[in-house]
Amino acid sequence: MRLLESLKWRYATKKFDSSRKVNENDLEKLKEAVQLSVSSYGLQLYKVLVISDKETREKLLPFSWGQSQVTEASHLFVFCNYTEHREEDVDAYIASTAKIQGTTLEKLTSYRNFIKESLSRMNWSEWQAWSEKQTYLALSNLLTACAELKIDACPMEGFDREDYNKILKLEERGLSTSIIAPVGYRSADDHTQFRKKVRKPITEIFEMF
Ligand SMILES: Cc1cc2nc3c(=O)[nH]c(=O)nc-3n(C[C@H](O)[C@H](O)[C@H](O)COP(=O)(O)O)c2cc1C
Repeated sequence: MRLLESLKWRYATKKFDSSRKVNENDLEKLKEAVQLSVSSYGLQLYKVLVISDKETREKLLPFSWGQSQVTEASHLFVFCNYTEHREEDVDAYIASTAKIQGTTLEKLTSYRNFIKESLSRMNWSEWQAWSEKQTYLALSNLLTACAELKIDACPMEGFDREDYNKILKLEERGLSTSIIAPVGYRSADDHTQFRKKVRKPITEIFEMF
């Protein structure tokens, strides 16, 4: 299985070769992999900023726990979750389902109400946790797609959310930074690429019944 080879090849890249850029064609493939991610109910309540602009990334660097990948990588993916539950997002999703799957809004009414009701039961912290989880699924697809294309990446929680939100003007858009991933090509000087992978044995992770 080629995917397993790709997953063994990838690693959380610490140092990127800043002279190498991901081309537009590959970038579109990465976006499509993120677009195809699973999400609860299919709602996809997030935005992904793909930042190549040097100046913006320089501004983010001091709030990235000194991690130079933010500026050295080709692109910085910033996954942003919606900060609140808005009924119109569910309505838009239902309308789009009806259109794409050739059904009527009436047939989807009870599903729409079910989604709205289950989301409205969440308090603020439950919403935050749930909505961030969605972005992690998208991140996972991005990392896997990168590996398939032999593009390097590093998932990163090491950043100051409030500062990212301020610099990227996210709050006024009802968004908050959830997780980031610099994407590009490893530097030959990144010694972590030669480290053996540390993973628990399969027998420790799985219990078979
Ligand atoms: C949610 C999440 C946050 C992470 N944050 C960082 C980070 O801020 N900086 C970093 O260098 N690596 C970060 N990592 C990378 C992990 O340390 C790495 O994936 C793990 O040690 C396994 O190593 P591998 O990815 O090289 O196989 C993060 C990984 C995940 C999944």
